[in-house]
Amino acid sequence: MKESIAVLKSEHRSISAVLHALKELARMAHDATARPPFQVLRSMVRYIDEYPERLHHPKEDEHLFARLKVRAPEARLLVEELQAEHQEGARLIRELERALLFMEEGWPVGARELRKAVDAYAEFHWKHMRKEEQQLLPLAERHLLPEDWKAIDAAFAANTDPIAGMEERDFDKLFSRIVSLAPQPVGLGDRWPGT
Ligand SMILES: [Fe+2]
Ligand SMILES: [Fe+2]
Repeated sequence: MKESIAVLKSEHRSISAVLHALKELARMAHDATARPPFQVLRSMVRYIDEYPERLHHPKEDEHLFARLKVRAPEARLLVEELQAEHQEGARLIRELERALLFMEEGWPVGARELRKAVDAYAEFHWKHMRKEEQQLLPLAERHLLPEDWKAIDAAFAANTDPIAGMEERDFDKLFSRIVSLAPQPVGLGDRWPGT
């Protein structure tokens, strides 16, 4: 497997793990009688905002998608669809942030809205990642040339983001913090009281 494809798929797995955990916490916040762990929820939303939204998607746009558009005109529609989804994802994450702020101020008021926003974002993002893996990657493997892969591999391996100025290790730290703070069954932290 190409280095960049392995990186892309592994990033999808991390994103997916956080989405699963976030969905579970939002469900618990809706049902539980104890105050939800807002610090964990904030870390998760920050992870999604800074990792997929500011690092993973731009890398796809600028390197993989841009080159595929040139090499395979038949992929243009699909690429434009995925790029539009990146824009839509940025809008949905703002809604998620707003819903979390609202719930933090008035919990349990706002728990239903947060759950709705989380579910919508997770479903949207899973569909997007499936489309990339099942439709875009096969086209890329068929049409991109060795020099394209060289550039794409380098971009995906570098993994630095000029906007956020953060590197991979920061996300590893954030991710392990999420896992250690989140209550069971999502993470390793103490079981959420009342569940
Ligand atoms: Fe994407
Ligand atoms: Fe992706």
